[in-house]
Amino acid sequence: MQRSYNGRVRTTEILDRMNDCMKIREFNKKDFNGIMKISKLLHPTWFDKVAINFSMPIDLRIHKGYVIEDKRKIIGFVTYTSNEGKAEISWIGVHPKIHRKGMGSKLIKKLEANLKKIGVKELRVGTVAESVEYEPYARTRAFYKKIGFSVEKIIKKRSEDTGEIFDFAILVKKI
Ligand SMILES: CC(C)(COP(=O)(O)OP(=O)(O)OC[C@H]1O[C@@H](n2cnc3c(N)ncnc32)[C@H](O)[C@@H]1OP(=O)(O)O)[C@@H](O)C(=O)NCCC(=O)NCCS
Repeated sequence: MQRSYNGRVRTTEILDRMNDCMKIREFNKKDFNGIMKISKLLHPTWFDKVAINFSMPIDLRIHKGYVIEDKRKIIGFVTYTSNEGKAEISWIGVHPKIHRKGMGSKLIKKLEANLKKIGVKELRVGTVAESVEYEPYARTRAFYKKIGFSVEKIIKKRSEDTGEIFDFAILVKKI
């Protein structure tokens, strides 16, 4: 038995049925609240309050991306930008009750396929580096590693939230 993203108990069979009702599509401005709802569930473990209250509300109005829906309810999202032909993931999140069920991989696959079509050769993403002892981001790094990203460089970053300087990894994947 597994718990669903809305708290009810599901069997694997029900989870399979959920896959039948899933859809990935480009996001539009009407999806703002659905994306923010998930992001707030990822706060404070992954997304800090500056991300929720300041960065995301701006970025979501400028960046492009995809949402994954189950019965028209957003359960995950990925957004990206591009500069000089190099694409970068800006935000990615899946409802915390359904982590590790393949949703993040589906979103990245869709993103990569569409970037490839327009000639993008590399995809980057920034995340908290391994030297920072914080378990939730070890899960995030395990995800990126599994889907083919590797560390390009480590930079120092100042937390917008606490002002603390920490190691930030820039990951890259050839697509
Ligand atoms: C990171 C995130 C988007 C991944 O999405 P997901 O749907 O949970 O990941 P998937 O199920 O597609 O995982 C694919 C593979 O990545 C690896 N992986 C994912 N989560 C993992 C975990 N918690 N522990 C170890 N490996 C993990 C596994 O190899 C997994 O494949 P497997 O389950 O067949 O072994 C999602 O967990 C999330 O929203 N995390 C919080 C927000 C976040 O970290 N955003 C990025 C900030 S930089």
